[in-house]
Amino acid sequence: MSGNTKICAVVGNPIKHSKSPDIHHAFARAEHIDLEYLRIESPLDGFDATVRTFFSRPMHVGLNVTVPFKEEAFALADVLTDRACLAGAVNTLWRDAQGRLNGDTTDGAGLVRDMCVNNEWVLRNKKVLIVGAGGAVKGVLQPILNEKPADIVICNRTAEKAEQLAVHFSALGNIRAVACSELVGPFDIVINGTSASLAGTLPPISERVIAGHTAVYDMMYAPQTTAFNAWALEHGAAAALDGLGMLVEQAAEAFALWHGVRPETGEILLNLRKA
Ligand code: ATR
Repeated sequence: MSGNTKICAVVGNPIKHSKSPDIHHAFARAEHIDLEYLRIESPLDGFDATVRTFFSRPMHVGLNVTVPFKEEAFALADVLTDRACLAGAVNTLWRDAQGRLNGDTTDGAGLVRDMCVNNEWVLRNKKVLIVGAGGAVKGVLQPILNEKPADIVICNRTAEKAEQLAVHFSALGNIRAVACSELVGPFDIVINGTSASLAGTLPPISERVIAGHTAVYDMMYAPQTTAFNAWALEHGAAAALDGLGMLVEQAAEAFALWHGVRPETGEILLNLRKA
């Protein structure tokens, strides 16, 4: 590390299992950028101070924000992108030339890029089911709607939250909430945005949402096939992806915001899968 080394970090709680340092260091090596990327565990009641301390130091150029601080980062930013405003969450922070704290969210762009570029899925004119209505889903709806699917249905264990999200995004496309027990399938694409896979459980939806042509994306990732993807494949889904590609692509978006160059993601994604 020298006086010219740029410092970035991911802040969360807990944070020790974050793959972001490996991903950003690989990008930096490929792009010949002198970068040190740290993990910072912020106290739950001290996020504001953690961010201010980080950016008070020279060469500290960018912060990624993860669970449970994305809404606090949104509240803290002086300048927000449109997509961060709609998401109500921020996963990428940096200071601009005027010293203002800027906030963006790259999660949705990362998800769409992994689906549509890395895996050549087409969302346009497709019937899409999104399961879940928490922060993770709110963060990805705008980029998905931008792809102009024919119809987006949101369902959630707590139905009112799906209804609120459908209303919040209704100006951007065909989006509606349906109770989990009343879903009429099948769908072309099913996205699991619940945290159920973290606990190895399944959201309460019927296998009738799946047909032989259905492609499934679980926004969670795990070394083994996630519970949701295993369930979908058992019921005949054509393809199932987990959220590792989304993780790498959201990182590439953040890297581009900080360093002005969007890195290639193919090789690091392959290496992470092998590991
Ligand atoms: P995140 O930031 O990961 O979205 P969140 O805002 O707490 O976290 O939202 C978690 C989502 O996963 C919610 O949609 C939640 O459903 P509820 O709104 O009913 O709580 C969903 N979820 C979590 N565990 C689940 C489970 N075992 N079955 C079904 N849905 C689950």
